[in-house]
Amino acid sequence: MTTYDELKKKIETIIDPGFNKTLGEVNGVKKLVVGPTGVVEAEIYLKDQTKFEQQVKIEIIKLVKIELGFPGIKIVFFESLFVPEGEKAIKYLAIASGKGGVGKSTVTANLAAALIRAGKKIGIIDADVYGPSIPNVLQLDIKPLEATKDELMIPLEKDGIQVISTEFFMPPEKPLMWRGPMLGKMLVHFFNGVKWQEDIDMILIDLPPGTGDVALDVKSYVPKSRVMVVTTPHINASNIAVKAGIGAQNIGHEVIGVVENMSYYFNECSQKREFLFGQGGGDSVAKRLGVKVFGQVPIGQPLDKSYIFSGKEEAGKVYDAIAKEVLREMEM
Ligand SMILES: Nc1ncnc2c1ncn2[C@@H]1O[C@H](COP(=O)(O)OP(=O)(O)OP(=O)(O)O)[C@@H](O)[C@H]1O
Ligand SMILES: [Mg+2]
Repeated sequence: MTTYDELKKKIETIIDPGFNKTLGEVNGVKKLVVGPTGVVEAEIYLKDQTKFEQQVKIEIIKLVKIELGFPGIKIVFFESLFVPEGEKAIKYLAIASGKGGVGKSTVTANLAAALIRAGKKIGIIDADVYGPSIPNVLQLDIKPLEATKDELMIPLEKDGIQVISTEFFMPPEKPLMWRGPMLGKMLVHFFNGVKWQEDIDMILIDLPPGTGDVALDVKSYVPKSRVMVVTTPHINASNIAVKAGIGAQNIGHEVIGVVENMSYYFNECSQKREFLFGQGGGDSVAKRLGVKVFGQVPIGQPLDKSYIFSGKEEAGKVYDAIAKEVLREMEM
């Protein structure tokens, strides 16, 4: 009869192929229980869980049922949170809004630029697979992607911001080809198949509008993503933003703060702020989610007619302040 300790030891010798280390070394066996009928229940944490869980499942079943003679085993897999020594963990921040068109992508790109001004190395995953807009906001020249020897995609770069987006895979003359489930499947590659620059500090995830599926997908790839909610001052936007925030909290993501975009227009003639979309949306969302407003971004366009404000412009300074709050909340 195999003892519990022997069972645990044996399972811990199985290799986590994502790390190429044993489950014991990467703390991959979190729960292991032998029930009254001898059926084993296990929670296993793997790197690149979706890619490797089938393979590891077969190995564990062989070991537990055939080699060790247990009558059955139930396994639940999760994405590993283990960080090998000497490697720093990449931090993830998803940008959510609920309502469309409130400026998520604009805020994501400007936050990336501000984080780079603060000395950080930043990537963006454009998770709006059906309506990618980050390449456009950054005015990034699209070229065919290169890959590493082990078939990881090398992201494109603009002003030091690395980007991966479905836009890179859409032939402009044949957009229909890429409709439907094919695009949905891209997301897994964005999370598991990209070679980011060495020492990257943070990856921003530009979510599509809504409170739904993609947020859940992100949860399965990045169990510990933080979330920042973008809203406008308008009551409609803020009500839906709260739902997106609560949705994120319900699936176990930590909402760290709120950005109110299009907060006001600064009238140069009167030297006064004009509140074109009302007031209070950001505060209301922050209060209902139990977090802070990181900043209020005015309505306006950068001087160079791009979408990215420099650190010298008023809105750029607002983004610098938001970046500072983000770094503090994410302990960086
Ligand atoms: N502070 C601002 N002042 C003026 N225009 C803005 C501001 N923020 C965003 N915009 C403009 O509003 C439009 C929508 O912005 P953006 O695409 O960033 O929103 P989104 O929330 O990502 O939209 P979607 O839901 O489609 O992904 C764009 O044309 C953008 O240039
Ligand atoms: Mg967008």
